[in-house]
Amino acid sequence: MRVPYAYLDQQFADAEAYFKDLRRLVASGEFTLGPFVEEFEHKFAAYLGVKHAIGTNTGTDALMLALKAVGVQPDDEVITVPNTFIATVGAVIAAGARPVFVDSDDRYQIDVTKIAAAITPRTRAIVPVHWGGCPADIEAVLAIANERGLAVVEDACPAVGARVRGRSVGTFGRVNAFSLHPLKPLNVWGDGGVAVTDDDKAAAWLRLYRNHGLRDRDHVELWGVNTRLQPVQAVVASRLMGQIPEIVATRIRNAHRLDAGLADLAGSVRVPRRPEGYREVYQLYLISVERRDALLAFLTKQGIEAKVHYPVPLHLQEAAATLGYRRGDFPVCERQADEVLTLPAHQHLTARQIDYIIEAIHAFYRRPVHTRRPASAGAGMAS
Ligand SMILES: Cc1ncc(COP(=O)(O)O)c(C=O)c1O
Repeated sequence: MRVPYAYLDQQFADAEAYFKDLRRLVASGEFTLGPFVEEFEHKFAAYLGVKHAIGTNTGTDALMLALKAVGVQPDDEVITVPNTFIATVGAVIAAGARPVFVDSDDRYQIDVTKIAAAITPRTRAIVPVHWGGCPADIEAVLAIANERGLAVVEDACPAVGARVRGRSVGTFGRVNAFSLHPLKPLNVWGDGGVAVTDDDKAAAWLRLYRNHGLRDRDHVELWGVNTRLQPVQAVVASRLMGQIPEIVATRIRNAHRLDAGLADLAGSVRVPRRPEGYREVYQLYLISVERRDALLAFLTKQGIEAKVHYPVPLHLQEAAATLGYRRGDFPVCERQADEVLTLPAHQHLTARQIDYIIEAIHAFYRRPVHTRRPASAGAGMAS
């Protein structure tokens, strides 16, 4: 059996409805911002429960703009994590600031107990990452930031649909960023991003800055850049918005099936804590395992495409040499980099495929499968 990690061909196998929408766009000639981008921005803001959504060319740009919008200046320090996609740190550097890392907790999120020690007089902002689509402890981050007068910019790039006690992540910080990259829960046909905020002034600045600082065709209010969301991507995103609840629900169901199936392997396989009231969207289904590289090779041989996000933390990357960190500085993150494994959990898997993953992992550790998993429609339980 094959269990692919990629699913985009399946997701867009029937793209007729999208093509119909795109015909409307082409007929309108509205190829630079305009009504299709605005329609998506309104839908996205309403979905999150936030006042403003500003479409950008990428999630990285949304993050960079968010940092600038909260006042991050050259030589400021910005606290974030070393276990994230490079873009989090790239955006901090692009904003002219210096990233200061804090170790991860047992859920692969920022360890909030270690933030205070990383704050210096130069700290301007904290960027918690909702890594893998799992909410960081954002309430604790906000409490620390408020007490110390720091801005919070959430990197919610992988986390459309994730919630903490019913409130969407990406609505807690002052200005926050989402990605519409093809491997994210709300995924378009290329690149796209969104900065979101409740702050009217920040929103006005973001709208200007992403479009050359142009107030209108003939008046430049400030020096900006061109990082507009493409209308083609806005059209795709608008249609997909309607499917987000189902996509998220299916991923959660798949993840719970994996959780239940792997529960009896404790010792060899560690499924992270899933706190009450935290809704994860499983952009990455992350576990820590014994003999990770051997298990990865075994699963690959069985036709299961697992991945590692990521084997080298950012503080140990060549690009980070100037930051002065060393191996041993973030022991939890470093251990996780050696043990973490990402299993397929996407919305196009069948229950049979998920059970096959569970069986393969049991076979690797030479343990019988005896956990009772929830049956689901069409699923052939394999053992
Ligand atoms: C945590 C995180 N931050 C930022 C980004 C950057 O988003 P984009 O690829 O849209 O620039 C990504 C995803 O690629 C991400 O996973």
